[in-house]
Amino acid sequence: MSSRRFVISVDSCRPGMRTAEAIFNQYGAVILFENTILDEHAIDHLRNMGIQYIPVYEESMLSVSGMDKDWAITDDGFGFNVKYEQDVHTIKKTLTDISSGKRLNREITDQIVHTMVGRPQQNRHMVDAVMQVRRIDEYTYYHCMNVAMLSMTIARWMNFDDAMVRRCTEAGLLHDVGKARIPVEIINKPGKLTDSEFEEMKRHSEYGYMIVTQDRRIDHNVAVAILTHHEKMDGSGYPLGLTGDKINQIARIVAVADIFDAMTANRVYKYKDTPFKVFELMQHNSFGVLDPLVLNAFLSNMTHYYIGSKVRLSTGETAEVVFMNRLDFSRPVVMVGDRFIDLAVTKSVSIVEFL
Ligand SMILES: [Fe+2]
Ligand SMILES: [Fe+2]
Repeated sequence: MSSRRFVISVDSCRPGMRTAEAIFNQYGAVILFENTILDEHAIDHLRNMGIQYIPVYEESMLSVSGMDKDWAITDDGFGFNVKYEQDVHTIKKTLTDISSGKRLNREITDQIVHTMVGRPQQNRHMVDAVMQVRRIDEYTYYHCMNVAMLSMTIARWMNFDDAMVRRCTEAGLLHDVGKARIPVEIINKPGKLTDSEFEEMKRHSEYGYMIVTQDRRIDHNVAVAILTHHEKMDGSGYPLGLTGDKINQIARIVAVADIFDAMTANRVYKYKDTPFKVFELMQHNSFGVLDPLVLNAFLSNMTHYYIGSKVRLSTGETAEVVFMNRLDFSRPVVMVGDRFIDLAVTKSVSIVEFL
């Protein structure tokens, strides 16, 4: 059976095609599993969920009669999705090399960073990709890629220059490479870690610093950010217990991206929370942990993407998100019919589902 796969637009999908991997919605929940044979109902479902592109197996495309030759839609999103998929495989190889004692191939990560930073107009695609591309296995590989994209996006939102955006992207990409040196039994342990296992796990920041500084071309601030991405503003982080401004700017950006990605990933399959729940948790639980300026830049821009979304309220009514409350991103102003409800004021009503 052919294992070649193509990413095609949902509009080009035809009944009989077979998915080449699981398809996730923007909150990380599975819509279709790998090897699902598409029918009209499934294609409609993808469209309704706002999915634009999916990977399908080549042989299943060829078996569909009447297929247009120009099915491989090439617009910005297509190019990015294909490249993203390739980059994930490259990262996997990089981490595998590291875990087997090889030195980091700097050319490979340079190429990925260049690919990401060289696409300034695609922030929206990147945010979508972070939310949509999710696999529970191979978690660290995707996590590194996601944190790189998120860090880059935050740096752009904060109006940093290209050099700084590049440093943030690189630090995000490499922040957890030290995990390659942690015993796999600890990384994959399903239950709670013992105290000593947790202490070993925490050493991944130092291992990461040691790995990247083997290459003397690494930017010093990027290496320091990898060492300090688990420091907290109040000094309760590790490994150095640095506070506030003593933590470098890149590490403070990576920390926000890291926590967001970890929170959304951990929620896959467990809860049916809206992304607003994650924004609320970040906003309310990060005092003393995250840099408030970075967090605010992140939340205000991320939540902006959800204006216009259709949601279901706890009253059972359907509403549209029309305005964000900066003091509480989880409680926007919504419109029901021709009525406006400020959820920050009307606390008895909340958003229970995205439609
Ligand atoms: Fe980490
Ligand atoms: Fe991480």
